[in-house]
Amino acid sequence: MSEPTALTDRRILVTGAAQGLGRTIAARIVDLGGVVVVADVADESGAHTAAELGDAATYEHLDVSSEHDWAAVCGRVTDSLGGLDGLVNNAALLDMGPLEQIEPDRARRLLEVNLLGPLLGIRAVAPLLRASGGGAVVNVSSIGGLEGMNSTATYNATKWGLRGLSRAAALELGLDGTRVNTVCPGMGNPDMPTPFLDRFDLDRYVQTAPRLPFHQHGQPRNVDVHDVAEMVVWLLSDAARGCTGADFAVDAGWTAGTYAEGLPGF
Ligand SMILES: NC(=O)c1ccc[n+]([C@@H]2O[C@H](COP(=O)([O-])OP(=O)(O)OC[C@H]3O[C@@H](n4cnc5c(N)ncnc54)[C@H](O)[C@@H]3O)[C@@H](O)[C@H]2O)c1
Repeated sequence: MSEPTALTDRRILVTGAAQGLGRTIAARIVDLGGVVVVADVADESGAHTAAELGDAATYEHLDVSSEHDWAAVCGRVTDSLGGLDGLVNNAALLDMGPLEQIEPDRARRLLEVNLLGPLLGIRAVAPLLRASGGGAVVNVSSIGGLEGMNSTATYNATKWGLRGLSRAAALELGLDGTRVNTVCPGMGNPDMPTPFLDRFDLDRYVQTAPRLPFHQHGQPRNVDVHDVAEMVVWLLSDAARGCTGADFAVDAGWTAGTYAEGLPGF
């Protein structure tokens, strides 16, 4: 009997998997015996990633904000793989800047990719998961979906919204045996450098952010993409059969709370 954490022959689509966290998740799915659809808008790097992952991976062009793309990809995947057992909504955009200077068109694009995208994805993939007897969806939010931060108002709104979407979807899809959960990775840790944060001065953030007490006073370790990928693949697996409609922070305590200086235990 295979381990409950195995993903043997599970067919799982990962969005935004050409690089960064999505690529790490896709690679881990293959490690665990799964079959992965690397979906992205970055065709060259996406195809390259799928080729590197070997025969168990294929590349599909998919703009998550396009209903047409979702229908086309689901059709092709049904033809080639016979269906899907899982979906990881990982693709997202980050934008930074003062709230009063947010460009409405740019905010609309973040909402389309980060929030409408996962909604369209769940909507398109739900019948395939149902046909396979119930599957698993993992939505990648952020600690930005558990708290707010200056400079990231639109991103925060999309990542909080994604948690709400996950819960509603967990209730509806749960009727057919599909589980839907949310992973909230830590953001801004220097050990989680992905291209997503290239434009973001991580060192300066970590040194100057006013609220990093756990980080400063004994955070056990920084998270990296592998820590987050482990949580995602666990949630995709049967080991997580008891979990749906829940949020899983992988932030090494970033959102656990604050130390109160002067009180015992500090
Ligand atoms: N990097 C971090 O520190 C961090 C922290 C917390 C949460 N996250 C979340 O993790 C996820 C992955 O982040 P990352 O750092 O790997 O990002 P990344 O920018 O490295 O990768 C994102 C991928 O999404 C793709 N993409 C962009 N728009 C798309 C679209 N419309 N359709 C399909 N694909 C599209 C990009 O081409 C890219 O390959 C995101 O949901 C992000 O919000 C990241």
